[in-house]
Amino acid sequence: MIVILDFGSQYNQLIARKVRALGVPAQILPCTASIERIRELEPKGLILSGGPASVHAEGAPQLNPEVPALGLPILGICYGMQALAHAGAGQVKPTQLREYGQAHLLDMADDPLFVGLDGRTRVWMSHRDSVVGLPEGWHGLARTENCPHAVMRHNEHPWWGLQFHPEVHHTEAGETILANFAKRICGAAETWHMDSWVEHHVSALHAEIGERHVVAAVSGGVDSTVMASLLHRAIGERLTCVFIDNGLLRLHESEEVMANFERLGIPTRLIDAGERFLSPLQGVEDPEAKRKIIGRVFIEVLFEQIAEGDLLAQGTLYPDVIESVSTHGPSATIKTHHNRVPEVLAMMEQGRVVEPMRELFKDEVRQVGAELGIPREILWRHPFPGPGLAVRILGDVTPERLAVLRPADRIFIDELRAADLYFDATWQAFAVLLPVRSVGVMGDERTYENVVALRAVTSTDGMTADWARLPHEVLARVANRIINEVEGVNRVVYDVSSKPPSTIEWE
Ligand code: XMP
Repeated sequence: MIVILDFGSQYNQLIARKVRALGVPAQILPCTASIERIRELEPKGLILSGGPASVHAEGAPQLNPEVPALGLPILGICYGMQALAHAGAGQVKPTQLREYGQAHLLDMADDPLFVGLDGRTRVWMSHRDSVVGLPEGWHGLARTENCPHAVMRHNEHPWWGLQFHPEVHHTEAGETILANFAKRICGAAETWHMDSWVEHHVSALHAEIGERHVVAAVSGGVDSTVMASLLHRAIGERLTCVFIDNGLLRLHESEEVMANFERLGIPTRLIDAGERFLSPLQGVEDPEAKRKIIGRVFIEVLFEQIAEGDLLAQGTLYPDVIESVSTHGPSATIKTHHNRVPEVLAMMEQGRVVEPMRELFKDEVRQVGAELGIPREILWRHPFPGPGLAVRILGDVTPERLAVLRPADRIFIDELRAADLYFDATWQAFAVLLPVRSVGVMGDERTYENVVALRAVTSTDGMTADWARLPHEVLARVANRIINEVEGVNRVVYDVSSKPPSTIEWE
């Protein structure tokens, strides 16, 4: 495998994903990881990630001097290159011309890192400091217009530094450079494939769980469905799937989720707990207070399903567990996550929590799902937040308001599907019930009723999003249908805000 030492870059996960996409296993460790920890993983090579600091800043993460002594090939990217240069007493300085965005790699020397590249190629830069004086024992391999040492290489050791980011999409030859490093230079083998991942993990789960029983809470979304399928394949009927209806689901959602699990052949227990969620929510308007109540009741209901000695399965993914480096310097803390509540932590201490997907990225979960034969309809379902419609009914959540939002939301989604806009054109789409009433006129009568907002966004990861440019005629049809078919609504508006500065949800 390739180990990525994390110096705090926002792109470090992308490096791991790009390396894995080449078929090579990759793991991220904090730049402060001990040499023993790195050795344990038996890496074929190391990548030093970028990072937001300047090597000269107080407390800036430095390269552990024992790392070069491991004798492995090293590729330093951006800050990683500067850390290599700094460690070798090269000169790293702020440049007058900061480089953000695209540049072209020029005067490339003949080198194994560049095999398959022909001449000038577009690269993507994002840096303030750069290496202005090469450390002793290193030489330059290429430049850009503003950066004389865009690539450097050690004269004897297999160590390289790149000032640009090969992991981002805008670097044309990024994949070739990473492949040259991982396969040609490090000699890493292609052992990371989803079919072998599934096969290996099904038997590993079987061995880990033994004769014990596992309880898994499922929501019908991609993560929990893939997790349940994997576990079901590994331990069969010793898996109990629990679907908790919290009374905040969409129209017919619970029937649909149960039917999907039946279709997959995974027995699932439906827990109808709506009342237990709705009654403490009465009169609660603050979004965070709603989330806390829902989270707490969820844990209570779930833990009633776990018998003594049972294991709990969690759909934790790799981004949730990466030992992260904050912008304020390295820290080896595991990111806190919503599924790390005290009850779960206590079970973890007893070795009773299984997290079958803790090394996967979201797109890899989908690949595993496809490998397991889960239909596209489930794998590409829009995300739905745990607190459900409670955060889409602004203000007080009541059965009456749920009864208004549900059919309105359904009409929107049905029309998106009918216009073939559900999968590729929208990442998430839903209706929101606003806490205001507006005046309208229906027949000859004045009305004073609810306003529904429609939200549809495009995104790749939910971190940033833009409002979906839906065709006007689709919006018109949705608005018309909602006003005509849903009692209590006389106005529909469309949300045209992006994230940031807005968020995807309204609460
Ligand atoms: P925002 O609204 O923060 O949402 O832009 C980003 C993504 O996260 C989902 N979301 C949640 N998911 N519990 C969840 O499980 C929550 O409390 C929650 N809040 C937001 C949201 O639907 C979007 O996909």
